[in-house]
Amino acid sequence: MALVAGIDSSTQSCKVVIRDAETGRLVRSGSAQHPDGTEVDPQAWWDALLEAIDAAGGIDDVAAAAVGGQQHGMVALDSSGEVIRDALLWNDTRSAEAVQQLVNEYGGGDQGKAAWARMIGSVPVPSLTVTKLRWMADAEPQNAQRVAAVALPHDWLTWKISGSERLEDLATDRSEVSGTGYYDPAAGQYRYDLLGSALRISEEQARSIILPKVAAANEEVGTGDSARGWGHIVLGPGGGDNAMGALGIGMGTGDVSVSIGTSGVVAATSPKPVQDPSGMIAGFASATGEFLPLAVTLNGSRVLDGACRMLGVDHDQLAELALAAQPGANGMTMVPYLEGERTPNLPHATGSFIGMSLASMNPQDIARASVEGLLCLLADGLEAMTDMGVPVNSIQLIGGAAKNPAVQQIAPAIFGRDILVPEPGEYVADGAARQAAWVLSALPTAPEWTASEVTTFTAEPTRFVRERYAQRRHLFTERS
Ligand code: XUL
Repeated sequence: MALVAGIDSSTQSCKVVIRDAETGRLVRSGSAQHPDGTEVDPQAWWDALLEAIDAAGGIDDVAAAAVGGQQHGMVALDSSGEVIRDALLWNDTRSAEAVQQLVNEYGGGDQGKAAWARMIGSVPVPSLTVTKLRWMADAEPQNAQRVAAVALPHDWLTWKISGSERLEDLATDRSEVSGTGYYDPAAGQYRYDLLGSALRISEEQARSIILPKVAAANEEVGTGDSARGWGHIVLGPGGGDNAMGALGIGMGTGDVSVSIGTSGVVAATSPKPVQDPSGMIAGFASATGEFLPLAVTLNGSRVLDGACRMLGVDHDQLAELALAAQPGANGMTMVPYLEGERTPNLPHATGSFIGMSLASMNPQDIARASVEGLLCLLADGLEAMTDMGVPVNSIQLIGGAAKNPAVQQIAPAIFGRDILVPEPGEYVADGAARQAAWVLSALPTAPEWTASEVTTFTAEPTRFVRERYAQRRHLFTERS
């Protein structure tokens, strides 16, 4: 029986699953925490990966491995392969000004946004790596001048597992690279002109910077570090966490996932590239050769963490409170732009409770409004997806907050459709494991693994909650 390892290096932790390559059966797993913050020394991810591998009983007996990871983080390397500065993560918004500059330099306003959507499938937001590079070029020119290669969290970890110190051995996949802002997923090529613009150097100078090789979905990109006894481990290209999650739950065309983790992500599989000039949808690529349009919110499960703190309750109690309230929370709307927001692009926004009255100032309505607000934020992303003509036949709810009974029961009311909740699982790590099995199998499509049990949730739609949210979400959103 061949074993494969799937790794999820996410914002908050690192998870390792070891599965049977043929059936997908879970054999063992382990995890370790990552430090908090939006700026992290990549060494902390490597230490956590080694700890998670140990907790999973090691990987000496696995035949193949692949890494999925939080997208977009800027891992800038110098010519000796050293990390130049702490990585700026997807949820770091210091490059908001760089976004404005980059959009202005390509026509400004709607014209500039449309130009970027055509060039890279997405309108820049502070999450995209290209904006972080521009920030570094202006704020830390001495660091920018040392850049010899730019990696992202997952491809840097794959390279570390391989033990290589050659920058030329860096490898990635379409799903991850399509979130950099200097790769055109429709054409399948790097845009060195955009990399150059970001770093304020010429396209020719940018071509001397090493970017990871973009491997095919089931291509071997190397083997593990023989000094660690991992020389026999075949490495898959890995990918961005959302694409690996889609592979983990086995999404096909028309399937949509709504994932509520640190970020909120509405993802769909599309046979065609999506280029949304409004910027609501990011036109990324999938890990299977198709496209993976995404609506990504900065605010996800932490909205519920915050509501718990505010009410002095745990997540189960928050759910009980929210379900004890009437839909619409007695006229109160919560706009959850707590960390600024990315979709819509309002990096300096704050959240608000709007429409508070004596009738709604109670724990039940505050809990209800928090859950409804988070779901309305995601419903806007879902609507943007259908507006772009992306087929939405079924919705699966995944991620940490998908376990919350209030989220499960209120989501179909806010989305106006049934939702499917698969058993809780490490779907990003599972997708990476499935990719590793695919690389091992040399088959044209990923191996079919037994699908997890799914529960369907139905509810009477509460359209008025969404309509009221749509009227109120623009109020009071600028941070003062
Ligand atoms: C996707 C995105 C987040 C991160 C963190 O564009 O920024 O989903 O991948 O998980």
